[in-house]
Amino acid sequence: MDDFDFENRIVDPSEIMIDNEGENPLRPRCMNDYIGQEKVKENLSVFIEAAKRRRETLDHVLLYGPPGLGKTTLAGIVANEMNVNLRITSGPAIEKPGDLAALLTNLNEGDVLFIDEIHRISRAVEEVLYPSMEDFAIDIITGKGQMAASYHLPLPKFTLVGATTRAGQLTAPLRDRFGVVLRLELYTPEELAKIITRSASILDIQIDGDGALEIASRSRGTPRIANRLLKRVRDFAEVISDGVITCETAQIALDKLEIDELGLDANDRRMLEALIKFYRGGPVGLETLAAAIGEEAVTIEDVYEPYLMQIGFLNRTPRGRCITRAACQHLGYELPNAQDAQITFDQTE
Ligand code: ADE
Repeated sequence: MDDFDFENRIVDPSEIMIDNEGENPLRPRCMNDYIGQEKVKENLSVFIEAAKRRRETLDHVLLYGPPGLGKTTLAGIVANEMNVNLRITSGPAIEKPGDLAALLTNLNEGDVLFIDEIHRISRAVEEVLYPSMEDFAIDIITGKGQMAASYHLPLPKFTLVGATTRAGQLTAPLRDRFGVVLRLELYTPEELAKIITRSASILDIQIDGDGALEIASRSRGTPRIANRLLKRVRDFAEVISDGVITCETAQIALDKLEIDELGLDANDRRMLEALIKFYRGGPVGLETLAAAIGEEAVTIEDVYEPYLMQIGFLNRTPRGRCITRAACQHLGYELPNAQDAQITFDQTE
């Protein structure tokens, strides 16, 4: 089995660097420039408008869904539309309750605090987060024994925007403290094509409609991947077609990058082939499958599976993961069944 460097995977939706507001020119700043996620946008716009009319801070917002869909971008838009500052941090970065206290006491009234990967905050930090979300105050204990003292510290009213790929992993008390819970969905190729066209214009890249749609349909429903592929395809376009991205240039470039017509890369194919060859198409447990391909179970769940399920290549059943006939067809295999599975493998190898 070949070792695949996941960190450098071109269709990896994780963000290499959490960029602070203002540094990524492709990030839309206002709701009108944000493409797709219509239901989320519609509801969030109402909540923002209502809070502004009442001159209140916006209720805490939880955004969940697969990585790369624009949760940080949305937090920035919320702050922008509310005319307040945005502070960005992440669950693992807040190591101690004191780190959270420092962040919170430095906020201004109404500010948005964005906590990415909020499911990864520690229990101790979570204990401080509850009262700060609910009562806008924290209790700090200093010293030990007879020298111990407790302070009740009022905080400015703020809006917490939490983001997670796994809402199910949040404790119920934390989840319950978010007044607004919104689920982001994978984007359609048409929506991604619009995002690509917008990004191309910002980056001064020439692209036609078919070129944008070709990149879009290989971007796994994810804007972060679409923007990354756009930049790589531009490199090919500069060398092979005077810098203009047409459907043909995009096809040539993406084929060279080993991203197939549906956006699957070597990793997706490796996982699906393992399912066919080792487990007769499933059902197989997540942990078993993860061990077979040398990948973390959470990566399979958060990164590989949402898209494979969306395109109807994989099912999660109570007994485990199952491949579908469509996936087998795409990879050029017969759908194995219990009796002739072994024969199928022998024939295809
Ligand atoms: N860039 C990343 N996500 C986007 C979105 N939803 N709309 C516009 N540009 C984006």
